[in-house]
Amino acid sequence: MADLSININGLQLKNPVLTASGTFGYGIEFQDFIDLSALGGFIVKGTTLKHREGNPYPRMAETPSGMLNAVGLQNKGVDYFIEHIYPEIQAIKSNILVNVSGSTVADYVMTAEKINELENIPAIELNISCPNVKEGGMAFGTSCASAREVIKEVRKAYKKHLMVKLSPNVTNIQEIALTAEEAGADSVSLINTLMGMAIDTKSRKPVLSTVTGGLSGPCVKPVALRMVWQVAKVVKIPVVGLGGITSANDAIEFLLAGASAIQIGTANFIDPAITLKVIRGINEYLDQNGFKSVKDIIGLI
Ligand SMILES: Cc1cc2nc3c(=O)[nH]c(=O)nc-3n(C[C@H](O)[C@H](O)[C@H](O)COP(=O)(O)O)c2cc1C
Repeated sequence: MADLSININGLQLKNPVLTASGTFGYGIEFQDFIDLSALGGFIVKGTTLKHREGNPYPRMAETPSGMLNAVGLQNKGVDYFIEHIYPEIQAIKSNILVNVSGSTVADYVMTAEKINELENIPAIELNISCPNVKEGGMAFGTSCASAREVIKEVRKAYKKHLMVKLSPNVTNIQEIALTAEEAGADSVSLINTLMGMAIDTKSRKPVLSTVTGGLSGPCVKPVALRMVWQVAKVVKIPVVGLGGITSANDAIEFLLAGASAIQIGTANFIDPAITLKVIRGINEYLDQNGFKSVKDIIGLI
């Protein structure tokens, strides 16, 4: 049995497999399917300062090669999370990360400050890459100046591990990742969804109420892998890779490309036990190929 543990800039994971925000609820929804303590960690739904209704329906669409969503960060706000959700999940023996989003820098900072007080949340994932909200979200993650501003301000307010989630909807992912590093991120995760759209030819109308939405699932994997590889080459902080991972082999590709950990998103909808299969598969791969630790394959290409 190989050593699967990994430390990403102070955040100790028992294995490199996390779940991606928005695809795993608050973890508790998956408790009947898997032992949550077997995960390296799970990242809860996008959380904002105030309650958000999300976008009007329809806000999900399947395409032949992936899923489009425009949920728009529906959630009950950070105070509800602290009062009602946190007490239910805080004793789970895994790393619980809160995905933080906002419309203004002040929103991000206030939300992060509140999460900072929660003893059993060792990290936040700062979502500066959500393509499905009118204000904020991706706008922060697609220019270096705005990414720097929001990360710097959150860095002052948040004392634990700060993971910054990057958008693939940019021309140069390396410069955004370097900006995140300079501004104080402890790690970067990528990718969030790619902007896409679908049209219903019968009604001659867009399928999603918002017209465009975020594409995820196996079709985005080659793009995500390319970006993870590009980013891992230039930053010194750890990179967490995600986008289209549906198997241990996919996860291993991300590790070889330079990711220190990976997240599984859309695949949870297809198989709620996929995370455990990926953990097992990584372990088998390491054993079969004579590697003692998962650290030995990170960035090996
Ligand atoms: C229904 C749905 C909701 C999502 N909500 C969030 C969110 O709240 N915050 C966030 O950072 N990413 C969110 N994402 C993006 C995923 O976390 C992930 O970055 C993306 O789907 C790519 O990974 P995948 O192909 O493995 O799903 C969402 C994705 C889906 C499909």
